[in-house]
Amino acid sequence: MEVFLMSLNDWSEHLQGNGVPYINTNPPGPYSLDKIKEAKKYVTSYWTGKKKDSDDGWDLPLTVKKVANSLIEDVDGNVYIDLNAGISTANFGYNNPEIWIRAQEIMNEYGVLGIFPSNDYNLPLMIDASKKLLSTVPQGPRYRVHYACDGTEANEAAIKTAVSFTGRGCVVSFMGGFFGRTMGSLSCMAQKSRDADTFRSLRSSNVYYAEGANCPNCIFCDQPEDCNGYCIEKLLKDRVLTHQVSPEEVAAFIMEPYTTGGLMNPAPEEFLKSAREICDEYGIVLIFDEVQSGMGRSGKMWVHEHHGVEPDIFTSAKSLGGGVSPLSAAFIRDEIMEEVPAYHGSTYGGAPISLAGNMAALEYMDKHQLLDRVKDLGNVIGKRVSEWDDYHNVWQTRGWGLLRAVDFREDKNKPMVEYKSQIQGELFKQGIITMSGGQGRYLSMLRLIPSFTIPDEHLNIALDIFENIIRK
Ligand SMILES: Cc1ncc(COP(=O)(O)O)c(C=O)c1O
Repeated sequence: MEVFLMSLNDWSEHLQGNGVPYINTNPPGPYSLDKIKEAKKYVTSYWTGKKKDSDDGWDLPLTVKKVANSLIEDVDGNVYIDLNAGISTANFGYNNPEIWIRAQEIMNEYGVLGIFPSNDYNLPLMIDASKKLLSTVPQGPRYRVHYACDGTEANEAAIKTAVSFTGRGCVVSFMGGFFGRTMGSLSCMAQKSRDADTFRSLRSSNVYYAEGANCPNCIFCDQPEDCNGYCIEKLLKDRVLTHQVSPEEVAAFIMEPYTTGGLMNPAPEEFLKSAREICDEYGIVLIFDEVQSGMGRSGKMWVHEHHGVEPDIFTSAKSLGGGVSPLSAAFIRDEIMEEVPAYHGSTYGGAPISLAGNMAALEYMDKHQLLDRVKDLGNVIGKRVSEWDDYHNVWQTRGWGLLRAVDFREDKNKPMVEYKSQIQGELFKQGIITMSGGQGRYLSMLRLIPSFTIPDEHLNIALDIFENIIRK
């Protein structure tokens, strides 16, 4: 357990004797607000680039000074417990010293530090990193790895591979999933009409949308127990693949097997099996996006392991580089790669620093048996939040492992978006960071996706605070 605490003792004077969370100034404090104002002048990231003041696009008015494991200190000296793990980019905690040191050693061993255009010349580090990474996949020998930097790039690679492999020009995407913000991934996304409206001229018109495994928002049945499979049988087969596009024209199905930001809900086994069967029947490439859900978060290394449904391509990103450097990957079936010419690449994909980060993280996962820890922490959260299901305004708590959500609604059809934002704001004021989520008009949930290394004590404190706020 010592290792999970990392170097917190000498990390912040506010931790000495104060404990966490520690609120020095009512958040957002004056320095945070000043810095946000300043950032808006110079930084064109998504939220600062917005023309009008609005509260969509970023979640909390937080200006970060320091981080370690699951703690964030802001520029006003407030110390927060982070239940969001940098949207899953910090699965192993922020600034994990063991991973950083080991990554440096690995780079030294292979004689390449930092950046190298790994797509252009062969590197033994890349071969060894790929062997190690593929050893985490049950059918590892059947895949090869393409490296990139972002989740969206891994999905672009997956889509381009499917199109060039099949020689077909259409894709069926499953609504509710999130795939990324470059034009290929964006074209495949049906989550917010705003994306379609704004970028209609550039979006591909060869993408068709089926219903994703959005069980909590199902339009066909009231309760998941009543599942009649209409999303696949009636909508996908009888409508999309009959009225809109022939299956013989479809290169790929792309879906999140565990809908993350849009819902925090695992697809039912039958849903994934039916998709697999249709793909097998018509020679369609099945792509799973495990960008947020993979790398151990569900309690198994990869989500598709839970149901034994093998995709032809699956993608990963977020914590894949061990929190050391950005890394994403598309795992592509061998027989596809045998046929596909090299149409795709990425200058920084598989840079030594990212591969070393990945190798160090995988070693760390083994050494500390982190998959067991994810299951244990997931059980702690699951047990705790299941008691919240009875609370006023909590409609549902759900999820597996460390992919959990609390959904605030009056009933299935009455999401409480404002109330969710109030709860999130109150949590922030009391030193707890959460990320909101949802889809369409159902932006009613808060995600609970902490680091695998969050100390038990910090998790329990955060859950106590959460409980106190929503019990009111
Ligand atoms: C499920 C999923 N897919 C794809 C992406 C895109 O990843 P990136 O932002 O690294 O391009 C994200 C990012 O939030 C995601 O959550």
